[in-house]
Amino acid sequence: MKNILFASSEVVPFIKTGGLADVAGSLPKCFDKRYFDVRVILPKYACIPQKLKDGMAYKTHFYMYFNGQNRYVGVLESQYEGITFYFIDNEYYFNGDKPYGDWHWDIERFMFFDRSVLSALPLLGFRPDIIHCHDWQTGLIPVYLHDSFQGGEFFRGIKTVMTIHNLKFQGNENAERFKKLSGLSDYYLTYDKLLHQRDGNMLKGGIVYADAVTTVSDSYAEEIKTGFYGEGLDGLLRARSHDLRGIVNGIDYDAFDPAKDDMIACKYDKNTVTEGKLANKRALQQQLGLTRDDNKFMIGIVSRLTDQKGFDLIAYMMERFCQQDLQIVVLGTGDGKYEDMFRHFAWKYPDKVSANIYYSEEMSHKIYAASDAFLMPSLFEPCGLSQLMSLRYGTLPIVRETGGLRDTVQPYNVFEKTGTGFSFTNYNAHDMYNTVMFAHSIYVVNREDWNGIVSRAMSADFSWQASAKKYQEMYDWLIG
Ligand code: ADP
Ligand code: GLC
Repeated sequence: MKNILFASSEVVPFIKTGGLADVAGSLPKCFDKRYFDVRVILPKYACIPQKLKDGMAYKTHFYMYFNGQNRYVGVLESQYEGITFYFIDNEYYFNGDKPYGDWHWDIERFMFFDRSVLSALPLLGFRPDIIHCHDWQTGLIPVYLHDSFQGGEFFRGIKTVMTIHNLKFQGNENAERFKKLSGLSDYYLTYDKLLHQRDGNMLKGGIVYADAVTTVSDSYAEEIKTGFYGEGLDGLLRARSHDLRGIVNGIDYDAFDPAKDDMIACKYDKNTVTEGKLANKRALQQQLGLTRDDNKFMIGIVSRLTDQKGFDLIAYMMERFCQQDLQIVVLGTGDGKYEDMFRHFAWKYPDKVSANIYYSEEMSHKIYAASDAFLMPSLFEPCGLSQLMSLRYGTLPIVRETGGLRDTVQPYNVFEKTGTGFSFTNYNAHDMYNTVMFAHSIYVVNREDWNGIVSRAMSADFSWQASAKKYQEMYDWLIG
C-alpha cells in the first residue's frame, strides 16, 4: 500500500473558492484503493460549515515554535465519502469568515500550516510515502522537509510533489519578513532557491525542492516555460522541465450529473437533453426575471470575476452583445470593476442580462443546466473546470485556445461535423465576439448541427479515471 497525503488550502466540501477545492476534494476518491491510501490535510477554518465541523473528531495536539512563540497546533480528523481528512486547528490563524484575507497575513498563516503539517505527521499514525502539495500555500512543505525534518528515521525518504494550479499566485513576501516568519536561514534566500525579484517566494520553494512538479493540463505545462505565461518563473520551469508534467483535471461525475442533479429544475441525460435543457431554461428565465422565450440564445458565465478569465474582452463587447438577440446570465464575485460592469448591464437591459454577484453552488448548477453556451475567454487558464461542467451538461463552451481550455474543448468543424464547442486563438475582443456570433448562428439556423455538438459534448469523458491513473503512475515512478 502506498500512502499519499494531499496538502491543500481548500477542499470540497469543506471550503471552496475555486477549482483547486474541486480537485483536492474529488481526485482522492478516484485512486485505486487496493494500492493507494490517499488522505487530505487542510486548515480547520472557522468558516467551514457547522454540519461538517460536527463530523470532526479530536486527534491530537501539541505546541510548535513558530514566529517567536510556542503555538497550539490541534489536529482533527473526519471521514467523508470514504476519505480521511485531517484538519490543522489554530484559532488565531484560521479564524475569520473567509479562507483568504490580507496578503501578508496569508503568508504567515500558510507558513504556519506548512510547518504544522510536517510536525503533526509522526502523531497521525499515517506515514505518507508522498506529500502531494497544491499551489503556493503549501510550497514550503518540500522546503521544510529538506531543511529541518531530515534528522529522524520517520521523515527519511518521504517524497514530495508540487502541483501548480495557478502560477500567478506565488506567495511572495519581502525577504526579511519572509526569513523571520519562515525561520529559514540565509542559505535558502538566494536566487537559485527561494529568492525571486528580492522577495522570498513560497511557490518557488516548492518547485525547487519537490521531487516532481505537475500542472493541470499539457498546454499549460508548455506555456509556463515561456515568458508570457511564466510569471517570472519560466526560467526555473525550463530548468526543471524533465520533472514537470501536465495532467489534465477531471471533475466529479457524480456531483455533476444532469441525470441525478437535485439542484436543477428538470433532470435530463443525453437522450432527453433537448427537452430537459428547455425546461431548465424556462425555469431560470422565470426565476431571474429574464424574457421568457424558448428561442433566446442563453449564454452562461460562472466564474471568479478576475482579469485571468477574460472579462476585459467581455466588458469591451458587452454593449454590442446586448444589441443581439441573446441572454447573458452571470454568476460570480471578484474585482469590483467587473461586478459593477455586469450590474450596470443588468440594470440597463433587464430582459437580457442577469447579474448574480454572489457565490452559490445551487445557482451554478442551474446555469450549467439552463444555458445553451458557456463563455470563458480566458487570458490564461491552467485547466478550467467550468468548461468541463458545461460539457457534461450539454452546454457548449466558447473559449479562448489557451491552457486547459485548448486541451479540453474541441472546436466545431463545419465540414467534418466534429467538435464539442467553439474557440478562438488570439486574446482579442472582436475575435471573441465573432466566435460567439458564429455559435449563435449555428444555434439559430442549423439546429441539427448544434444538437450534434451537444451530443458529442455530453459524450466526452472528463471524469477523473484517466488522469488519476497518470498520478498513480507518477507516484509509482517516485517511490518504486
Ligand atoms: P478557477 O479555479 O480558476 O476559479 P475553475 O474553472 O477551475 O476556475 O473552477 C471554478 C470553480 O468554481 C467551478 O466549480 C465553478 O463552478 C465554481 N464557481 C466559480 N464562481 C462561482 C460562484 N460565484 N458560485 C458558485 N460556483 C462558482
Ligand atoms: C486554478 C486554475 C484553474 C484550474 C484550477 C484547478 O484555480 O485557475 O484553471 O482548473 O486551479 O486545477
